[in-house]
Amino acid sequence: MNTHFERTGTLTELTSYPRWVQELVEACEPARRSVRDHVMWDMMSEGHIDQATMRNFMVGTWSLIERFPSFMAQNLLKTQYGRSVGDNLARRWLVRNIRVEQNHAEYWLDWAEGAGIARDVVLNGRPPRGTQAAAEWCHEVCGNDTLAAGMAATNYAIEGVTGEWSQKVFDSLAYAQSLPAAGRKATLRWLQLHAAYDDTHPWEALEIVCTLMGNHPAPEEVDHLRECIERSYVSLHYGLERCLVKPYAEEVEEQAA
Ligand SMILES: [Fe+2]
Repeated sequence: MNTHFERTGTLTELTSYPRWVQELVEACEPARRSVRDHVMWDMMSEGHIDQATMRNFMVGTWSLIERFPSFMAQNLLKTQYGRSVGDNLARRWLVRNIRVEQNHAEYWLDWAEGAGIARDVVLNGRPPRGTQAAAEWCHEVCGNDTLAAGMAATNYAIEGVTGEWSQKVFDSLAYAQSLPAAGRKATLRWLQLHAAYDDTHPWEALEIVCTLMGNHPAPEEVDHLRECIERSYVSLHYGLERCLVKPYAEEVEEQAA
């Protein structure tokens, strides 16, 4: 029985990957949907998101964006060239893509600014409570877990679902038109770069995870990966929910606590 995985099919087709990962992706679908179909994207793409929610979203998500290359660097530290095909693939991919991430923090600030949230607010504003769960989780899994778990949780799960919601918002004419015409292209640049049709990173990450795990990983290893991927989606979903809470509600909660 051949336990090594080597992709022969198309990169962006789930059927090109081992059976266990097809089932894993399917099992994680409800959690992924809770992020992909979140009301936040409807508010944006219908062009009627309020400034308080947008501020919460921009400030609350900032640390995840800003720290994303460092999560990849945490994974890079686990690789060792020549140890396995998976290690070699991961090392090469991470080195190259940390560089690609270089400008994305700046583009996030451009998006915020175009959407009426000053960069100083994003850089120094206090994020709404609960919105840091995804960044904290990425730090934990990339720092302490296996290379496969770290890449599955971040480059596959977080980048993958981000591609889906980015495409939704980027495709919306109403959202584009809700922004000032001057600088609109720069404002939309982050979304454009992360929209799924331009971004094959999550698929490449999935290929690396499969190469590291092989065709027949132990069931408990698969279960663990599923937990890691679901936790990424759940923490993103929770963060989005917290962005919808208005300052008044938070004050009330703080007084009650
Ligand atoms: Fe990025």
